[in-house]
Amino acid sequence: MDRHLDKYKNKAAIIFVPEPESEAPVSLTYRELYVQVNEFAALLRDFCGLKAGDRVTVHMPMVPELPVTMLACARLGVIHSVVFGGFSGEACGMRAADSGSQVLITMDGYYRNGKLLDHKAGADIALNIAKKEGTTVEKVLVWRRHPGQNASATPFVEGRDFWVDEILPRYSGEIVAPVPMDSEAPLFLMYTSGSTGKPKGCQHRTGGYLAYVTGCSKYIQDIHPEDVYWCMADIGWITGHSFIVYGPLALAATSVIYEGVPTYPDAGRVWRIAERLDVNIFHTSPTAIRMLRKSGHDEPTKYKYHFKHMTTVGEPIEPEVWRWYYETVGKGEAVIVDTWWQTENGGFLCSTKPALDPMKPGSAGPGVPGIYPMIYDEMGEEVHAGSGKAGNICIRNPWPGIMQTIWGDRERFVAQYYAKYCKDTNSKRWQDWPYFAADGAVLAVDGYFRILGRVDDVINVAGHRLGTKEIESACLTVPEVAEAAVVPVVDEIKGRVPEVYIVLQPDVQASQEIVDKVNHVIETMIGKIARPRRILVVPDMPKTRSGKLMRRILAALSNNMATGDITTLANPDVVESVRVLVQGKEAVVLQEGPEDLKTFGANE
Ligand code: PRX
Repeated sequence: MDRHLDKYKNKAAIIFVPEPESEAPVSLTYRELYVQVNEFAALLRDFCGLKAGDRVTVHMPMVPELPVTMLACARLGVIHSVVFGGFSGEACGMRAADSGSQVLITMDGYYRNGKLLDHKAGADIALNIAKKEGTTVEKVLVWRRHPGQNASATPFVEGRDFWVDEILPRYSGEIVAPVPMDSEAPLFLMYTSGSTGKPKGCQHRTGGYLAYVTGCSKYIQDIHPEDVYWCMADIGWITGHSFIVYGPLALAATSVIYEGVPTYPDAGRVWRIAERLDVNIFHTSPTAIRMLRKSGHDEPTKYKYHFKHMTTVGEPIEPEVWRWYYETVGKGEAVIVDTWWQTENGGFLCSTKPALDPMKPGSAGPGVPGIYPMIYDEMGEEVHAGSGKAGNICIRNPWPGIMQTIWGDRERFVAQYYAKYCKDTNSKRWQDWPYFAADGAVLAVDGYFRILGRVDDVINVAGHRLGTKEIESACLTVPEVAEAAVVPVVDEIKGRVPEVYIVLQPDVQASQEIVDKVNHVIETMIGKIARPRRILVVPDMPKTRSGKLMRRILAALSNNMATGDITTLANPDVVESVRVLVQGKEAVVLQEGPEDLKTFGANE
């Protein structure tokens, strides 16, 4: 930001598009962003007493105050931990406790699907949960969505909750010298789901992360200062951190922030925004593309925008969806990059280079410059290009954007990402520690990687990463539930959605009330994004003789796929009774299922 003041101070850094079309878009110039970030940094330092190395949890919607908050933290060396605004207060509280945050920053409300939601209510829940986990959050700063109004019915706690707009005028015009940080100092935490019930805080470094997202933004996203760049992700996910905030702003581009639902009030909204702001680079997920295609197949043709470049990220994209994106959304004029990467990685791992490498629908492409991916089989043998075999995609080399560690859990970091294919755990050579991404992939003769999906217990719902174990832990808090298993089910729009199996405690009768309770607990402990397709009460779970629950079999039943050999189970008969519950009496035609579902739970 500071770097751009000489040349670009009057250029829009951020254009905020409120969900209600009656509210006009708001532009923040680089100078204005600089002023707001400085004032808020002064507030954080002098009113909250925050200093370099402290952690702050941020639970905010898609508004410009969110990047202002993040950049104010960065200016002080304070580590921000942004929790996706759609996550529940409880999920936010768990993350606040894990990071040891003294301050929570939130907003009173925001618009979603035409409604002004009370968002601050989540803060109170978050603080209670954090306290139970042993962390006292001392201050809650509440931004206001509309000046002079209060979108939240939740009462303020005296001495703890503060309206930002009441305190901020004290710091009017203050300039805070940026605190110089070591390039290895943590910049932020981003919690993500893994194979245990506890989300992990991916710790990203100051220098490497910023260098890497800037490089990816320049060379893969093709961003130049004159571009209007719209990444439709949420800033609460890594894509938003890297490609709404840090990457585009590092390159002095104009970054668009849209508050609401892409199809609100109708299927043309996204294209109206693109036309009005003259967006020329567009970045979204296959789920959004599928949704826009279904709700308004020809809508893009009605608007006079022109994209030079488009990105897809977060899930595998079906070739026919890719073609609609290319022909209808991109009007045959825009290059598409399919970027494969993860929260842990800071920036892209695989993608074609725009205009240099040929595009291949459904395939992410080769490693981006500086990234050397390869595929290993389960035995640790390299799977070669053109073999047609699927295996685990790994990265041979370290790179600047890779996370430093899991916050507070270095051992889990090593075990999760580096132990699997390390041949010599005493080695200090990076060559001996390939990064295990936990995705299945196939490498074609042309060097392009096709990503198949997760090989662990993570479900990719609408491009959002959810841990099956997290959902199961939530289910088990309902006293009537004895056992729970969560599996992914194919969904036409969202890619995958969770389906929940529960076994009740002895002597408890199945009822709609219990199902409602389980639904409710998932929504309150995680968020609406984790809402299952169905909750099935079953008499027993398929288990091995050693008592291991076989999620793979349940996933097969949920997706009408072949269950494979079940004779070695401790209770093979239970499979048929569960099948009837899931599929009905008539045996269904067994489909050849997608690759990730075949391997789901394989490492149990
Ligand atoms: O399975 C891969 C899938 O999303 C996972 C990472 O999710 P998350 O950490 O939330 O980050 C999402 C955005 C960077 C990966 O393990 N994934 C991501 N991008 C792609 C993808 N699958 C296929 N194609 C992609 N382009």
